[in-house]
Amino acid sequence: MRPHGIGFLRPAAFLAPVVLIFVSARAQSQDAAAFFKQNCTSCHTIGGGRLVGPDLKGVAQRQPDRKWLVDFISDPNSKLDAGDPYAAKLLGEARGARMNKVAGINQTIADSLLVLIDAESRLAKSQFAGTQISDRPFTGQDIANGRNIFLGQTRLAAGGAACVSCHSIVGLRSLGGGRLGPDLTKAFERLGGRKGLATWLSAPPTLTMNPVFRNTPLDANAEILPLVAFFQDAAQRGGVADTSTSMFNFLLLGLGGTVVLLILFDLFWLKRFRAVRKPMLLGLDVGGHK
Ligand code: HEC
Ligand code: HEC
Repeated sequence: MRPHGIGFLRPAAFLAPVVLIFVSARAQSQDAAAFFKQNCTSCHTIGGGRLVGPDLKGVAQRQPDRKWLVDFISDPNSKLDAGDPYAAKLLGEARGARMNKVAGINQTIADSLLVLIDAESRLAKSQFAGTQISDRPFTGQDIANGRNIFLGQTRLAAGGAACVSCHSIVGLRSLGGGRLGPDLTKAFERLGGRKGLATWLSAPPTLTMNPVFRNTPLDANAEILPLVAFFQDAAQRGGVADTSTSMFNFLLLGLGGTVVLLILFDLFWLKRFRAVRKPMLLGLDVGGHK
């Protein structure tokens, strides 16, 4: 039997360190998440597939040696250059792309990042899963849809500005693509292919693109997927065919389109007007009405 004298103290004495540990663990995991988001998500997802680097979901099962992982994250080059067989395998799977030492990293941060990766790996959907665009092969329809989105012929669901107002693509010059943003003919390769470009477009990190799309994000499967299909096609062909159909569609969009529509409407309306008026005016000359 334990003495009753200090019994009332025990819960408080016991809880205080638990609360402290809990609070500091929470703060630490938030720090780790912020650090991961800023320094790792451009190359890694957790459960969203490979980008430049491997999907980190379940990395602790692939490489059970914790010290190895901590060492690798805090200084990738030392492992990559040392002829370490596991590092060589990773390098091969990344087709030669190398992970560099991230600024500000140390063994303690690396360890807290691994705790975070473990926790996120257990979730059905990690906050670092990246954009989930479908893996199905692109179709000709996707490319056509992407082109329409790029040209602003299909409006962006969230109301973002049409890409063509700031960007051009080789072959679309006669459509007068904007000059504020870079030519996007090679964007597909430059931003890491299907996954990389999709992730990039889901939250563009750059100076102009970020504010333009922060509050009007693109829809993953309805917009990003077809845009990526369109950019892949453009990259493969070194540009896009500037067909007369697209010229016509573009004209319909712009001032030309407005005029054409007005004329069509006018003709239609006049015809109806005459059809109604003729019997009413009984022989009066309506031909002069313009
Ligand atoms: C520039 C892209 C890039 C960045 C940024 C990057 N990595 Fe990597 N990472 C890679 C590549 C590529 C590999 C595969 C090894 C290689 O080829 O260098 C890799 C491998 C890894 C591995 C081993 C994966 C496995 O399957 O065993 C871990 C763990 C890892 N990275 C964690 C991180 C963490 C944590 C960060 C952020 C602090 C980070 N990486 C930042 C590209 C990157
Ligand atoms: C208001 C002008 C504007 C609009 C609208 C716009 N962009 Fe951009 N975009 C830019 C600028 C400027 C850059 C250069 C980086 C920066 O400053 O953000 C850029 C960069 C990019 C890049 C990176 C290119 C590279 O090689 O690094 C991609 C990809 C891109 N935009 C795609 C799009 C898509 C897709 C749309 C339409 C959904 C779009 N942009 C709409 C101005 C715009």
